[in-house]
Amino acid sequence: MNVPLVDVKAAYLRHKDAIDAAMRDVVESTAFIQGPHLRAFEEAFAAFCGTRHAIGVGSGTAALHLALAAAGVGAGDVVAVPAHSFIATIEPVSWLGAKPRFVEIDPQTGAMDPAALKNAIDGVRAVLPVHIHGRPADMEQIGAIAADAGVPVIEDAAQAHGAEITRADGSVVRAGGHALAGCFSFYPGKNLGAFGDAGAVTTNDDDFAAAVRRLRDHGRTSKYEHEIIGYAHRMDTLQAAVLHAKLGTLDADNQRRAELVADYVSALDGIGDLWFPPETPGRRSVYHHALVRTAHRDALLAFLKQRAIGAGVHYPVPLHLQPAYEFLGYQRGDLPATEAWADECLSLPLYPELTAAQHATVVAAVTDYFA
Ligand SMILES: Cc1ncc(COP(=O)(O)O)c(C=O)c1O
Repeated sequence: MNVPLVDVKAAYLRHKDAIDAAMRDVVESTAFIQGPHLRAFEEAFAAFCGTRHAIGVGSGTAALHLALAAAGVGAGDVVAVPAHSFIATIEPVSWLGAKPRFVEIDPQTGAMDPAALKNAIDGVRAVLPVHIHGRPADMEQIGAIAADAGVPVIEDAAQAHGAEITRADGSVVRAGGHALAGCFSFYPGKNLGAFGDAGAVTTNDDDFAAAVRRLRDHGRTSKYEHEIIGYAHRMDTLQAAVLHAKLGTLDADNQRRAELVADYVSALDGIGDLWFPPETPGRRSVYHHALVRTAHRDALLAFLKQRAIGAGVHYPVPLHLQPAYEFLGYQRGDLPATEAWADECLSLPLYPELTAAQHATVVAAVTDYFA
């Protein structure tokens, strides 16, 4: 049995009627650029995140670009980021003329370690934690350290739609609502996936929201008046319609992901050297990846491939060791916890439509490998 890493087609078929109708609506209205369908999705996604604003943009990378620009990050600035992420976390930092400063991760969670941030905060202009694999970073401590230093935090929530933290005061805050801004990706394989590129910036700050809206659309104040030099980073309205049609099941889909991962954990944790990073108390992951660690990662990956099981690696080369960032002067050994995750992490197939038979096929193959 073939088990893909993600199954975008299955998600489409489950929402087919709603998606087809929503796309037809946009086509018949010919309101392809911004317009009422985009506004409706923005309102619905802001409500989902519990934020005052959600601004639809062209991709998760564009969301990061706009949020960093609106936060005032520019030439010569330093932005604190983890190196255990996808390269899109730092490309916009570079586009703005700023530099990433890589902060070690917490080996238990894979996300930015607040203690390491504290040591690295001097001279930083903004802090950019990543809710990697759908697991929330420690936003309370990170927020406190950044507030002490007087610098903004921008969440890379590209993998974390709906992830939650129960804060010390008992309030429950979703990814995208902890800081000045949250940046989401709706790349097709994400927990909420479009039919192409799309993203969003969330914020509770009205002025910041207005700045992001202006920057995403050529710095416009009216059709042919441009107050600032902006970007062409609008969300395609057809994508907004697709996303709106799928948003209604996102909480249930995230719950299904959690159940499937719990089943992987109970069947596989501790077999050989397999280790599933546990949930952190008070933080609810949305399991963008079914992440497991093993020192036998590459051999297990090859074995699963032979059995037509589409496991993945997110991500094999940490950002501080990417050739494109060699000029920063980092070396292997600089971030041992980050490097260990990159060497050992494996993502098992995971999507809400994964069947019991597919799940059992994956479990049997992994068990066979270690036998
Ligand atoms: C952690 C992270 N940041 C940023 C991005 C960029 O998002 P996009 O591919 O929508 O530009 C992604 C997704 O690809 C991601 O996983």
